Amino acid sequence: MSSADVDAVLSAFTSRFGRDPEGVWAAPGRVNLIGEHTDYNDGFVMPFALAQAVTVAAEARADGRWSVTSLNQDETHQFGPDDLVPGMDGWHAYVAGVVWALREAGRKVRGADLVLSSDVPVGAGLSSSAALECATLAVLADLSELEIEPLERAKLARRCENEFVGAPTGLMDQAASTLCTVGHALFFDCRSFETEQVHLALDEAGLELLVLDTRTPHALVDSEYAARRRSCEEAARLLGVRALRDVTDLDAALAALPDPEMQRRVRHVVTEDVRVLEAAEMLRQDRITDLAPLLDASHVSMRDDFEITVPTVDLAVETAKAAGALGARMTGGGFGGCIIALVAAGTADQVAAAVATTFDAAGYGAPSHFLGRPSAGAGRIR
Ligand code: GLA
Repeated sequence: MSSADVDAVLSAFTSRFGRDPEGVWAAPGRVNLIGEHTDYNDGFVMPFALAQAVTVAAEARADGRWSVTSLNQDETHQFGPDDLVPGMDGWHAYVAGVVWALREAGRKVRGADLVLSSDVPVGAGLSSSAALECATLAVLADLSELEIEPLERAKLARRCENEFVGAPTGLMDQAASTLCTVGHALFFDCRSFETEQVHLALDEAGLELLVLDTRTPHALVDSEYAARRRSCEEAARLLGVRALRDVTDLDAALAALPDPEMQRRVRHVVTEDVRVLEAAEMLRQDRITDLAPLLDASHVSMRDDFEITVPTVDLAVETAKAAGALGARMTGGGFGGCIIALVAAGTADQVAAAVATTFDAAGYGAPSHFLGRPSAGAGRIR
């Protein structure tokens, strides 16, 4: 969250309602360091929260209705209990869906006025929607005086995403936005829900994590994401395991599957889980530089086996590596969006400039970039 966003939501709230809000809350976007498409296979992930966040000024209201204004969209939507119908369209569905999920869980949610602003890039694979859900949840839990454990909050936010908005995602993004802490990546077991905050001491290691947005629109993401998920579930069924996390002998599993495409999907998920476990072990030992080959291998696996990268993303990764990045991979659901690159401190701008030059020569639009800094999860900030 930026202090400009805090000022913006405070002043917009005050000019709209003629008084100060009760408080200000924020929830971050995330990058995933490693562990892609493993969450819905009951596997392991390791995201960290970004400084970029959804910031919300809010106050309870007495009539049991909700209003939400987005300063980014310059739009206000109002809704009451009867309007909470799954399948609602528009950005405000992420807000209405959180109200719906809380009520479905038997929680009493007070009406509220929300004014929000976000500096999480949208459609870039950085979980702008999870940030909106988790920020809304933090607001409504506090204003309604609901005691909800952080993991439970993440699950409620995911319920909004899955059942109200209708996107069949796993739990990673909402867990990251809720559970991450400053200076750490979150090692998260998506079956047991065990968490471990692993120290991500980039500065001490003389490293930076470049986040580069290829700005490729996520054209196929919804249908292709759902197709990958179906393929994994079908493979697990054919292999007689509860989820692909339970595949212990990869060669035997591959031999048991008739379809080469399904074999590739399984190989990605199983090897990616192993890479997350290795990455967590390296971070526990503060061996951050050793993450680099794991990032590279993860990218190759997403490109060749899971087939979720696109030419701009592959070119960005190759160019970043050629320009000196130690390791690089696409981050997020795929089909566009951001790459992350582990680079020596002070070199991120020059690596990003090399990608921009290559994109220009290839006729692609200009990418944008920033440094990923492990930041705090959702909560009240004022
Ligand atoms: C999206 C989903 C997550 C996860 C990633 C891929 O971000 O929301 O649940 O599946 O894709 O790792």
